[in-house]
Amino acid sequence: MAAAEKQPVTGAGPFNGILTWVDARFPLVSTWREHLAEYYAPKNFNFWYYFGSLALLVLGIQIATGIVLTMNYKPDANLAFGAVEYIMREVPWGWLMRYMHSTGASAFFICIYLHMFRGMLYGSHRKPRELVWIFGMLIFLALMGEAFFGYLLPWGQMSYWGAQVIVNLFAAIPFIGPDLAIWIRGDYVISDATLNRFFAFHVILLPLVLLALVGAHVLALHEVGSNNPDGIEIKNRKDPKTGIPLDGIPFHPYYTVKDIFGVAVFLFLFAIVVFFAPEMGGYFLEHNNFVAADPLKTPQHIAPVWYFTPYYSILRANTINFLWVDAKVWGVIAMGISVMIFFLLPWLDRSPAKSIRYRGPIFKFALALFVVCFLILGYLGTQTVTEGRTLLAQVCTVIYFLFFLLMPWYTKIDKCSPEPERVTMR
Ligand code: HEM
Repeated sequence: MAAAEKQPVTGAGPFNGILTWVDARFPLVSTWREHLAEYYAPKNFNFWYYFGSLALLVLGIQIATGIVLTMNYKPDANLAFGAVEYIMREVPWGWLMRYMHSTGASAFFICIYLHMFRGMLYGSHRKPRELVWIFGMLIFLALMGEAFFGYLLPWGQMSYWGAQVIVNLFAAIPFIGPDLAIWIRGDYVISDATLNRFFAFHVILLPLVLLALVGAHVLALHEVGSNNPDGIEIKNRKDPKTGIPLDGIPFHPYYTVKDIFGVAVFLFLFAIVVFFAPEMGGYFLEHNNFVAADPLKTPQHIAPVWYFTPYYSILRANTINFLWVDAKVWGVIAMGISVMIFFLLPWLDRSPAKSIRYRGPIFKFALALFVVCFLILGYLGTQTVTEGRTLLAQVCTVIYFLFFLLMPWYTKIDKCSPEPERVTMR
């Protein structure tokens, strides 16, 4: 907003003067108004709308605890494992910072998966929010990178061998693979050079990328306005006098209060995990990572952390050499596509209704089946392979891809019910 159009600062009591001074030089009050006090959000947000603000909270927790951890950590292959032990035992409150950070990583993925699922439930990826979705997907990729690089830093057995397995996947790419893997590692094996660059990516490069993308994500959302559980556009029905959407309420104070409630419940659950079950039975912190990395001793069972296991299962499900290409290469390709295919969701979905409330039975069934397969793949990825498990992973992988590939067809023939004119409060 140009300075001449700025509305005067009112309602800030004794701070009116200083805010007027600042606002003449910086768009503080106008930003507050545009993005909070006068950002009109649909009045029917429900449970599923907590996870965006919770993801923001977890991002803040990760940055704050990460800074403290970095003050005491040593990115050196000879010192890293000991530095983490030192943080856990000697640094005042170091154990708390570390457990908050490790639990935060899993909490981040829980929030993001639920946040993405909400998008799929209510068609939030559809026009005009395609860019919100694309920025979200870029965040998701950056987050996966951030988690992967961070996992090497404690220099435990799982850190070491997990990184070894993942970097070796790149080596499977025809022609450029072996050189690419050396380029990523900075060495022929995972080594001190790898640890140093992963540290740089984890503490500075990817946090910067994440912050920039989250900014773009929220700006893109505020440009078009939020979707809602009914999947209808509140901007289509405005008060003729004020121009304010009839079904809109100011984000502040209504949704700031709602989100604070969500934050309180989240922090309660988060604290239970941090204080009583930080390892979460080996799902949040794997048992093998309490053993220092040993390049000469491969663990019996190497599995990534739970949030990567659905894709890891898809990778392992490919067991057939096809067209002179090795099964492992097909696995890497399938795994890559299984993540990237989410980018296409706004264009694969042709349903006349956005929200699941008004979609037909085929979509409801397809989404439920997809979620079940995703969970089964996630579980299988944590287990050792057997013939039966591989077969199950293959079936789930096929269903996973069919969910996307057949979407243009089944969303078109599905029998949707009419959408309401105004949002409903249920
Ligand atoms: C650091 C990660 C992320 C943060 C902090 C974040 C933050 C937010 C916030 C604050 C909102 C508005 C409040 C809400 O609707 O819940 C939002 C909306 C949205 N986000 Fe994210 N997000 C993140 C990742 C993602 C990802 C990975 C996706 C999907 C690939 C995504 C897709 C969306 C969509 C489609 C909306 C609009 C929802 C609607 O209006 O119904 N976001 N996000």
